[in-house]
Amino acid sequence: MVLLAEINTKVGSLPLKKPTMLASGIMDEDAGSMKRIIKCGAGAIVTKSIGLKPREGYPNPTLIELEYGILNAMGLPNPGIDNFGEEILKLKKSKTPIIGSIYGANSKEFIKLSQKMEDYGASAIELNLSCPHAKKYGLEVGSDPKLIKIITSSVKVNVNIPVFVKLSPNVTNISKLAKAAESGNADAIIAINTVKAMKIDLDLRRPILSNKIGGYSGQAIKPIGIRCIYEIAEHVNIPIIGVGGILTGEDAIEYMMAGASAVQIGVGIYYRELDIFNKINKEIEQWMDKHSYKKLSEIIGAAHL
Ligand SMILES: Cc1cc2nc3c(=O)[nH]c(=O)nc-3n(C[C@H](O)[C@H](O)[C@H](O)COP(=O)(O)O)c2cc1C
Repeated sequence: MVLLAEINTKVGSLPLKKPTMLASGIMDEDAGSMKRIIKCGAGAIVTKSIGLKPREGYPNPTLIELEYGILNAMGLPNPGIDNFGEEILKLKKSKTPIIGSIYGANSKEFIKLSQKMEDYGASAIELNLSCPHAKKYGLEVGSDPKLIKIITSSVKVNVNIPVFVKLSPNVTNISKLAKAAESGNADAIIAINTVKAMKIDLDLRRPILSNKIGGYSGQAIKPIGIRCIYEIAEHVNIPIIGVGGILTGEDAIEYMMAGASAVQIGVGIYYRELDIFNKINKEIEQWMDKHSYKKLSEIIGAAHL
């Protein structure tokens, strides 16, 4: 059957042929796995969050599967920006946008990292201001509206590609933080990073993860993500990218109705394999055809009307 709906979208000035992007941290540390995901229908790839220096991350256990999702505290392991360059350069011929995710402790670090990502050929920057379990980075920066505005605006004036800001749900008022990013001239908001959580081993009487506290992903966090997108959409006028627990086309459509112009998929890969991007793209098209929608713009933000 020929599908009629058009699922191309735009995040600010960045056009996407498909609305499903790979979320940061999952199969995105080397060019080979990123190429495989592109072949599986992702509209864009977000890299693993990269810092100035190589970082080993935390000792095991760092990841555990729970009933309704996955709990992790990897500790931001990454090869460092200088070693990561060659991975992005290997993707230079790809027509699919590569979005460089970065983390840092202050504006100076974020500026350096974003300029290098731009030099390597990244189509946009994703500022990870939201890691729930990395001391010094992540939430310490990303729960302070003043710091969010300063970091965003200082990166914006130092690069010529769009700058996206990824926020955490582990805060009292996420729309206040989204507004701070908007006032720093962010091109889009991404929400949500993982939800702070813990699992205890009853026999050992200890938290299982070596870092004790981790971040929860997967189907359990979808209603939290939907609520965050809805609240942010009520307060800002820049595009939003939704992420958290998306496993099906209907999950993606729910995020879009809440206000997302595109979506990201992380641990969904574990549940529906790499081909999840093609599957979800097709499910969105089928759903739109069935309900007589022709374009995603008819769905984005529909829950607010
Ligand atoms: C193993 C793992 C590593 C992650 N690493 C990063 C990271 O480096 N940077 C980042 O911004 N988010 C990271 N995340 C968070 C995801 O990008 C995403 O925001 C979160 O998992 C919710 O989406 P999901 O339910 O589709 O997985 C990671 C998640 C997982 C499970």
